[in-house]
Amino acid sequence: MTPDELKALVRTIPDFPKTGIQFRDITTLLGHGPGFAASVEWLAEAVEGAEAIAGMEARGFIFGAAVAARLRRPFLPIRKAGKLPCAVIGVDYELEYGLDRLEMDPSAVAQGQQVAIVDDLLATGGTALAATELLRLAGAEVRRAAFVIDLPELGGSAKLASQAVDVRTLMG
Ligand code: PRP
Ligand code: ADE
Repeated sequence: MTPDELKALVRTIPDFPKTGIQFRDITTLLGHGPGFAASVEWLAEAVEGAEAIAGMEARGFIFGAAVAARLRRPFLPIRKAGKLPCAVIGVDYELEYGLDRLEMDPSAVAQGQQVAIVDDLLATGGTALAATELLRLAGAEVRRAAFVIDLPELGGSAKLASQAVDVRTLMG
């Protein structure tokens, strides 16, 4: 499937979760078998060579875990606050429509391990930058991130590039 065909499977809902936000809803893409498979395949090619794949709760788990399994690499879940039972490191961050906190188990990363980030969508880049910071704190090398959707007007891609993260996006 072409990127334009995949883009047509993403639904846009105005004013969710707040007035003024054009929410890109991937559930319609997930609900289309060939579309979901093609998206996962594209992401897997974009991060091929990474030693592990990290995904951010919750939508990043859907694509990140599928990509990791496809590449036969470990999946590192980066969770919202208070979910992990072990000792964690955490980072507070701002995203397009609010504030949040991401946490991870630092022992999940081997020192110097090449970890790629996968998520559904890149908006301000707050989430992906927080994930990059956490993974690097844990000892990972983060050089690549791949997303299904980019909202370029919000500047996430440029922010990640300034942190030496190479960004790949399937659709705008
Ligand atoms: C969404 C999306 C990205 C993030 C992008 O997650 O899945 O992770 O926002 O926004 P940013 O580039 O401005 O940080 P959200 O926090 O809404 O959580 P969810 O996956 O649980 O829906
Ligand atoms: N996460 C941050 N901004 C978003 C948007 N506009 N649509 C869907 N998820 C998002």
